[in-house]
Amino acid sequence: MKVLPPTAEGLRAAVGWLEASRPVGMPTETVYGLAAPFDDVRAVSAVYEAKGRPHFDPLIVHVADPDQLADVAVLEMFSATERSRIRQLVDEYWPGPLTLVLPKHPVVPDLVTSGHATVAVRCPDHPVARALIRQLGRPVVAPSANLFGQVSPTTAAHVVEELGDRVVAVLDGGACSVGVESTILQFKPGLPPALLRPGGLPIVGLREALGPIALPGEGEPVVAPGQLEHHYAPATPMSLWSEPLHALPDRTLLERLGEEERPVALVVFEDRSDEQRQRVARVLGEHVRVVPLSLDGSWVSLAQRLFATVRDLDRSVCTRIIVEALPHDHGLAPAVHDRLTRAARGRV
Ligand code: TXA
Ligand code: MG
Repeated sequence: MKVLPPTAEGLRAAVGWLEASRPVGMPTETVYGLAAPFDDVRAVSAVYEAKGRPHFDPLIVHVADPDQLADVAVLEMFSATERSRIRQLVDEYWPGPLTLVLPKHPVVPDLVTSGHATVAVRCPDHPVARALIRQLGRPVVAPSANLFGQVSPTTAAHVVEELGDRVVAVLDGGACSVGVESTILQFKPGLPPALLRPGGLPIVGLREALGPIALPGEGEPVVAPGQLEHHYAPATPMSLWSEPLHALPDRTLLERLGEEERPVALVVFEDRSDEQRQRVARVLGEHVRVVPLSLDGSWVSLAQRLFATVRDLDRSVCTRIIVEALPHDHGLAPAVHDRLTRAARGRV
């Protein structure tokens, strides 16, 4: 796979591949995507193929500008109030990490939507992604650029690592600023919007604009097709503690990890003063490695580094990954907890 710089020349090369029905890795603010022209069935098939993704898991259509929504989705069957709410969301949050699931326009091939009558659409907040879509002259599909079920890529190097020679090129747009995938909201006429996937846009603010939002697990089961339990799973066994490290007395740490002889990673929210690392080394020895997620104590930094940290640990000598209980006190917490629970395959 060739890594293309985010220059006029790099963009031209990427557009050339897309026009030749060859998928190309594309940076977005959330995670890297594997792009293909949305209406080119050969290119879209190649996306499913490269990822090893089953055809029942539909793709998100990415537009360069908010007003392209009407090119791929139809709003006619919504009431005037519902339409104005959708428009308000688009005005306020696009470009950004929000995907809307809406009735699809007939131009969108069934292969993109897995035969559903709806299409997922978003406008990514990344200059390289938007330039690519503009220069191509039509929207692109872009699932995360990882093998199906694996950890999502947040740098061009991760895309190379994941897809290697299955894909011709990736545009390098730097590290993703959000780090977790977009929030997915589904709209159906006459029903409250439903959250299909918590993501990079906190829904706290959305509630003000939209009123009630149906959450996964409430009422009728609404889950994004393809959101399988074992998504985001590293090969190294991963488990989640139900307590934060600081709340566990030395005795409990010894009970849990005292017998451990091989290197283990203990992932914590942050460890600014190395305090936790020193305590763990004193109680348990050096083979339990404390790995902070957030560099500055913020959730933004934590989300940015989440997938890269899991990916690095998966390739490290550590034979287990353990994550301390993280708080729930931020709009990004639901997305982070969702990804960690899936990565741990429910192991707590
Ligand atoms: O942030 C993101 O959304 C990233 C970047 C690359 O834009 N893309 C991404 O795509 O996460 P992917 O394919 O990894 O996840 C898309 C999710 C899937 O769970 C899929 O089931 C859901 O969106 N989805 C797509 N179309 C849908 C539809 N018509 N109805 C319900 N869910 C849909
Ligand atoms: Mg994905």
